[in-house]
Amino acid sequence: MANLNKHYGELKASYLFSDIAKRVKEYEATNPELSVIRCGIGDVTMPLTSEVVKALHKATDDMANSETFKGYGPEQGYDFLRNNIAKFDYNDRGIDIKNDEIFVSDGAKSDCANITELFGLDNKVAICDPVYPVYNDTNIMIGRGQNIVYMDCNESNNFSPEIPDEKVDLIYLCFPNNPTGVTATKEYLEKWVKYANENEAIILYDSAYEAFITEKDVPKSIFEIDGARTCAIEFRSFSKTAGFTGLRCAYTVIPKELERNGMKLNQMWLRRQTTKFNGVPYIVQCAANAIFSEQGQKEVKENIAYYLRNANYMKETLEGLGLKVYGGTNAPYVWVKTPNGMNSWDFFDIILNKAGVVCTPGSGFGKCGDEYIRFSSFNSYENTVEAMERFKKVL
Ligand code: MLT
Repeated sequence: MANLNKHYGELKASYLFSDIAKRVKEYEATNPELSVIRCGIGDVTMPLTSEVVKALHKATDDMANSETFKGYGPEQGYDFLRNNIAKFDYNDRGIDIKNDEIFVSDGAKSDCANITELFGLDNKVAICDPVYPVYNDTNIMIGRGQNIVYMDCNESNNFSPEIPDEKVDLIYLCFPNNPTGVTATKEYLEKWVKYANENEAIILYDSAYEAFITEKDVPKSIFEIDGARTCAIEFRSFSKTAGFTGLRCAYTVIPKELERNGMKLNQMWLRRQTTKFNGVPYIVQCAANAIFSEQGQKEVKENIAYYLRNANYMKETLEGLGLKVYGGTNAPYVWVKTPNGMNSWDFFDIILNKAGVVCTPGSGFGKCGDEYIRFSSFNSYENTVEAMERFKKVL
């Protein structure tokens, strides 16, 4: 008999966003007259920018021509893209990251999941609560479920947990945070870097939302912190930065200095990727590369400003209704405390059934999210305004 991975039995029955999609589908089937406004999953709504589309067309023509056709590319990404990532996302901001420390991939979600296999199962894993469910679920899947140390994030610690008393080996941090939208200060991240270096731990830093940072002095990368090169891995994505959720392109940064047990993580990841992954399509990498031109930058920044305007509108409207609201300033997410401590799924159901608006219930991100809901600002401005109008009527 084939034995199965019993750890799958430790998971919740389905992935958070699949659960929500099912409820929304049921609602739509019974309420066809009211159009649903989706502020749940953080999925971009604006089309690809014109520089990106131009690059896609040109790259498609390259593939149609025997002179420029590409077969397998380097698993870790083409140099043209890795060079631009190193220059624009790091070096120009005074951060020392080299081309061969960047691994281009099909998504930060898959990288966050796949990286778990580089580490021993006996590592203690520090995970925030609430949290992007992928960090939690993938550690359970691989068999580390009993070794997870949850770090409560609440209003009293501004959703940025203190270092746990128990010693931990792997630490997941995400700033700007999904789901709460809060950011970290440099001083706060310095504490974690110091802890990680002193305890030979590794920080897995998800900065998929860095492009949404509007305030000065908010770090965009863990590598802005001295000492991070010997204790951190960073995940970044083109999904939210450039509207690539349907195109798929991201990257992971692993400094050469990062090693444990005499093994270098950069080499391990290279070995893993070259064995299990054939790289991101040439066409998609050309499209990603297009955002680094002057015009490309201008266009993606305009789109981000558009979503941030929505986030701001939601934040102001909800605060105006007397609700406690977090995030929205440096993040596409607005994290809202439910009225009178209502359970988040109950509040989700009320908003869906009475207003036809989809949010994400906070408890889907962990028990500390139970009295919160999350609104995503990835929508049109008109839909955002309409969603808030409908919300006002049910409150
Ligand atoms: C979210 O809504 O939290 C995001 O869509 C998650 C993701 O990027 O996978």
